[in-house]
Amino acid sequence: KRPAGAPDKSLARPVTKVGIVGAGLMASQLALLFARQLRVPVILTDLDQERVDKGVGYVHDEIDKLLAKGRVSQDMANGLKALVTGSTSKDGFADADFVIEAVFEEMGVKQKVWAEVEQVVGPECVLATNTSSLSITEMAAGLQHPERVVGFHFFNPVAVMPLLEIIRGERTDDATLATAFATGKSLKKTCILVKNSPSFVVNRLLGRFMGEAGKIADEGTPFETVERAFAGVTPMPPFMLISLVGPAIALHNSETLHAAFPERFYVSPNLAKVVAAKAGGFYGADGKPDEQVLALFDPP
Ligand code: 3HC
Repeated sequence: KRPAGAPDKSLARPVTKVGIVGAGLMASQLALLFARQLRVPVILTDLDQERVDKGVGYVHDEIDKLLAKGRVSQDMANGLKALVTGSTSKDGFADADFVIEAVFEEMGVKQKVWAEVEQVVGPECVLATNTSSLSITEMAAGLQHPERVVGFHFFNPVAVMPLLEIIRGERTDDATLATAFATGKSLKKTCILVKNSPSFVVNRLLGRFMGEAGKIADEGTPFETVERAFAGVTPMPPFMLISLVGPAIALHNSETLHAAFPERFYVSPNLAKVVAAKAGGFYGADGKPDEQVLALFDPP
């Protein structure tokens, strides 16, 4: 059955090579997913070699874990490693059919990325953005071919979370959307078409969840109490979830939602402090709450 709102699948174009802009954690998870499920070459790119090497290193480590668990054979592991290459140049995108970006969550940065990618790729290459909150229409506005830009929003951890939000911008055409749905299906994700509105569906809901948790803590309920209150209610308590997605992304999501719906969404000053301190999350490597990070919280 065709997912609600998906165009005729006969319009979908084949995907034989994938380009990824960004080599951070989300981008690296995507590289592995695309290589594993589509079995096509994937180029992971970033601004400097160190980030590229880190991204490719993550992919190799995850493949080794799959091998150790017996999920892939040695031949398959070698094959997957060979499919994912890294580069600081986007030249390898020239014959890609599908490019996805997972760079910093800022409209200007993403628009610049797409303007650069457009110089390299062919006119029918799909430009998919993993943005968690920004407008697809606005992101595509200055491009020569805005019709091939589509929202393609994954969830952390990518290997485990089944959902994929697909977002149609005002100018996205049917062939692009059909290719996005066909690719999402090949990636074995549950694809839903969601409206091009701030933070789409899932992050809008999570924005309330995380925002209220932040507000409850800002009002003086101890961190551990907020976390324990959700034990068994949700798969992850709110501050653990914020740590998983990254405090900067959670803060950006709350700011986007607050700008759109000021009376309904809360921006936590304590979360902003944690982001300013560049803390990666609220938990240490030992899985226990990080007291140094919690010490950043202002008393109520
Ligand atoms: N990478 C890859 N695989 C992972 C992983 C990771 N980071 N974390 C867990 N897994 C795998 C494990 O290897 C295990 O796989 P296996 O069964 O094949 O061995 C499986 O997931 C289950 O892991 P665990 O048994 O260790 O742990 P849990 O049962 O506690 O589940 C969880 C872990 C699936 C992450 C669960 O806690 C969960 O669902 N958390 C909520 C996640 C969520 O809500 N994500 C959405 C965030 S919003 C977002 O990403 C959008 C963005 O735009 C902000």
